[in-house]
Amino acid sequence: MDTNDSSSLSGFGAGKVILLGEHSVVYGYPALAGPLSRGVRARGEASNKCQLVIPEALTAEQRKVLKAAFGRAMAACGEPGVKVSFDTDLPLSMGLGSSGALSVACARVLLQAAGRKASATEVAAVAWEMEQEFHGTPSGVDHTTSAMEQLILYRRKPGAEQGRAKVVESPKPVKLVVVMAGARSPTKLTVGALRERQKRWSERYQRIFREIGLLASEGAEAVEEGDLEALGDVMNVNHGLLAALGLSSPGLDDMVHRLRNMGALGAKLTGAGGDGGAVIGLFHDTGPAVHELTRLGIRCFDSQLAGPRSEGTRGAA
Ligand code: MEV
Repeated sequence: MDTNDSSSLSGFGAGKVILLGEHSVVYGYPALAGPLSRGVRARGEASNKCQLVIPEALTAEQRKVLKAAFGRAMAACGEPGVKVSFDTDLPLSMGLGSSGALSVACARVLLQAAGRKASATEVAAVAWEMEQEFHGTPSGVDHTTSAMEQLILYRRKPGAEQGRAKVVESPKPVKLVVVMAGARSPTKLTVGALRERQKRWSERYQRIFREIGLLASEGAEAVEEGDLEALGDVMNVNHGLLAALGLSSPGLDDMVHRLRNMGALGAKLTGAGGDGGAVIGLFHDTGPAVHELTRLGIRCFDSQLAGPRSEGTRGAA
């Protein structure tokens, strides 16, 4: 929850998981994505100027990008007098939407400090300014999922300023195990390299993007019908097409197969993929897989993306 008293402000931005449709969503096709309970918490205190406390651990390049991103959000909110700091319990640079979550958390605090409404739409509009600085050509799915905090079918037509999100209701809990499967290259690079390949062989790549878009819509229908087996099958097919696009790696493929062998209804990479990143598995009961992966020393946690709530999260990341 966000607070808003004159002495301290606070805003949360949820991390996200793309269930279906990463990358093709950049080209105008739908993606199915939901929020994690982990994310970024931003805090604000009154100050004579608008500023962001930048963590010491960041590289010079990361500091530069973060400063530029915050500068855009600050300008969009009229530079209110607030000093913003943040912390996170989200694994960083893993394809779990850390920059989108940071953008949403900062947007919430800046809007509160400016005395403006912090509705999901307002928050998403300010966070979008930051995301463009972080990612170059983002589809907008990350920060929109974070701002809405619901399972959504998201689509943004190329060139359109805003994407559209439809909330996908689930009669059943959609439970995932999220596994960290090695370091990966920045999203900007993975998206850029795919853009070059699709420019060269446009027709072939567009065919696959179109197919992935159809899978995302079929997955949303499966969720609404409570057909988790069908959702799992769609996730498996989506992983195969992401691999065909050159977005998987031996480490990601190995983890996908491990999760399937542990009884996942479906498993795939999530987010930008590439050399490493996160893998998700859909389970009726996530407990045994989290227990086994943790025993093997593999970083993971479980999360419920949608449906009736019962339990909290397990595992360490
Ligand atoms: C990154 O979380 C998802 C991508 O589809 C990029 C984007 O949508 O902007 C790879």
